[in-house]
Amino acid sequence: MRRKLVVGNWKMFGRLARNKALLEGVMSGVSALRNTDCAVCVPYPYLGQVQTLLQGSNVAWGAQNMSQHEEGAYTGEVAPGMLLEFGCKYVILGHSERRGIYHEGDEMIALKFEAAIKAGLMPILCVGETLEERDAAVTEEVVARQLDAIVKKVGVKALENAVIAYEPVWAIGTGKTASPDQAQAVHAFIRQRVAKLDGQIAQGLCILYGGSVKAANAPELFSMPDIDGGLIGGASLVAEDFVAICRAGK
Ligand code: 13P
Repeated sequence: MRRKLVVGNWKMFGRLARNKALLEGVMSGVSALRNTDCAVCVPYPYLGQVQTLLQGSNVAWGAQNMSQHEEGAYTGEVAPGMLLEFGCKYVILGHSERRGIYHEGDEMIALKFEAAIKAGLMPILCVGETLEERDAAVTEEVVARQLDAIVKKVGVKALENAVIAYEPVWAIGTGKTASPDQAQAVHAFIRQRVAKLDGQIAQGLCILYGGSVKAANAPELFSMPDIDGGLIGGASLVAEDFVAICRAGK
């Protein structure tokens, strides 16, 4: 049995006072959870605050992006080693907002993925199709391309220390969730593709679903055989909603 994992992606939201109240609510709400791991991925400036507040709790934390470089003249970027100094366990890579708005391509994301693994961070690799791609029936082709770029760069064994998040772009922040069957189909496709290279890695691989996950739809989504938890945007900003989603991952 794979453990469930629920990760909050705060995106570019947060303020010191608000974060504190949110994190306190989350910590107390999930303190008794045994079979689900919980984490929050926060904007860089709040990593120190999050580290101070969450240390010793059963909520882990991470960042939403990072540079592929260890250090150097890269104004505005944040290095993997910097995330480690703030106790990060996870780093989200290849989020559709990074791919779409900031033009990060498969090749750059593969370099970041390689750097994260090398640093000992656990990358959460986001994959997923746009609405046009789903309508054109190329979902599997798109997801395969995004996944294969990583595997080609780092090898399938590296997935032992990584998480995949399937986030259909059309379901992010739109209130339109993929149905449990739609999500399950893509999750199974991802697992089978990895299994062709390494059955054991595929079996242990944690594949999250993201895109308008709410307390109301989480139980059904998380009950699907290849859905191992969620990557939660909007609902991770409200303590009771996020806690309810974490609890749905029993
Ligand atoms: P929403 O849950 O707000 O749809 O966001 C999903 C997401 O992008 C998480 O990374």
